[in-house]
Amino acid sequence: MSAVEVATSKNYIGGRWVEARSGGVSEVRNPATGDLLGLVAKSGAEDVDAAVTAAAGAYERWRRTPAPRRAEMLFRVAELLAQRKEDLARLMTQEMGKVLAETRGDVQEAIDMSYFIAGEGRRLHGYTAPSEMPHKAAYCVRAPLGVVGVITPWNFPMAIPSWKIVPALVCGNTVVFKPASYTPLVGLRFVEIFEEAGVPAGVVNIVTGPGEAAGDALVEHPQVRLISFTGSTETGLRLAEKCARLGKRISLEMGGKNAAIVLPDADLGLVTDALIWSSFGTTGQRCTACSRIIVHRDARADLTDRLVARAERLRLGDGLRPETEVGPVVSSSQLERVHEYVKIGTREGARLLTGGRQISDGAFARGHFYAPTIFDQVAPEMRIAQEEIFGPATDLIEADSFEQAVTILNDTRFGLSASIFTRDINAAMSAIEEIDTGIVYVNHGTIGAEVHLPFGGTKFTGNGHREGGLQVLDVFSEWKSVYVDFSGRLQRAQIDRE
Ligand code: UN1
Repeated sequence: MSAVEVATSKNYIGGRWVEARSGGVSEVRNPATGDLLGLVAKSGAEDVDAAVTAAAGAYERWRRTPAPRRAEMLFRVAELLAQRKEDLARLMTQEMGKVLAETRGDVQEAIDMSYFIAGEGRRLHGYTAPSEMPHKAAYCVRAPLGVVGVITPWNFPMAIPSWKIVPALVCGNTVVFKPASYTPLVGLRFVEIFEEAGVPAGVVNIVTGPGEAAGDALVEHPQVRLISFTGSTETGLRLAEKCARLGKRISLEMGGKNAAIVLPDADLGLVTDALIWSSFGTTGQRCTACSRIIVHRDARADLTDRLVARAERLRLGDGLRPETEVGPVVSSSQLERVHEYVKIGTREGARLLTGGRQISDGAFARGHFYAPTIFDQVAPEMRIAQEEIFGPATDLIEADSFEQAVTILNDTRFGLSASIFTRDINAAMSAIEEIDTGIVYVNHGTIGAEVHLPFGGTKFTGNGHREGGLQVLDVFSEWKSVYVDFSGRLQRAQIDRE
């Protein structure tokens, strides 16, 4: 397919599909094959302004639409997603590379989130409380904020936008969505579904374009009240600085350096299955991926042999092919980044057990494939054990005791997901208590959080907010406390105590 045959995608603003005002266009290519999939607008500040203006215009009516009615449209979104699951999954595999079983899972996560949060339309519970005064009612309710800016990554091109857009809407906000530059096509298809589900014009808008132009314009726009961002720590902190200056709320989900502890009593067959999945599923490109395996010295030799044998058997390839277990990394720059870390690890003195190279022969020539990589003899302070690589690479770190393993696990600037493998209930429960992360797994790898529990992390992984669970509603609403004094006289709180 040549570029001239492909029409440039439009933005969806105020209920209409419109051409971007900025003239630029970018190509979307399949990372497994190099094929051109589409052209999308490189929107800029003017396009963002049009979208925010449309969202602000739609807000008054949307916030007054009763939440159960808003939710009916979100149930419809879930149904449409379920109907199109296969098509959307195939497009997603072509756009960002992960294998079909996983892209089906990504769409399923958006379906789950939509059903779960749509159910909140009939709850959105506040609470009542007794007043300290007679004849006075006290209760609190949730109120929307206004226009929400949603900025999302490419690794979960439908699940992560759903974590943000759906709760924003049920709470009564309107949305301007800027999808990741590598995955705009899935983002556009997602927005079509909101349109089809009957969500009114202006309530959801999408603007494609690069972070530096479209993303920053969204963050800086005075009518945007809240930014919900998932992506790198570097970008997240930069956006948080801007938001602090502008006095706006920002919810951040950023990096991870997730670890699994393996104690000697663990079932090493299960550990191998779980950690191969956790380290190399999604080609290691999950914020929850396991990139540090902290293994007790008594289990180390056995586990190392099993992991290496398994990693070497993983079948790489185009994620559309049923036999593929690991797809490409998303881009050549991401591939270079992974390889750079392999060089850093080698220089630091870690031992490369397997992988550590690009695969580009034969059928792989046009894609961005990297061999699943395992480092051994990794010291906890090495850069490869501290910095997020976001690719198919994991480290083996030896520990002498449970206590030392937990100390190593906690000794990073991130705190998203962690896991421990053991059959000793006391060790498992102690780990749950001692581990400083937002998600802890026992006898499972670090990935696979479910939508109805809070998702997020401690330290530099986030800024105290959670997605998923009912806790996400706190991101997308303001609490309004209401006092109704029906005593007919002045009663002063804290003062009139008779
Ligand atoms: C991410 O990698 O950004 O828990 C999200 C998981 C998935 C979500 C990952 N449900 O691995």
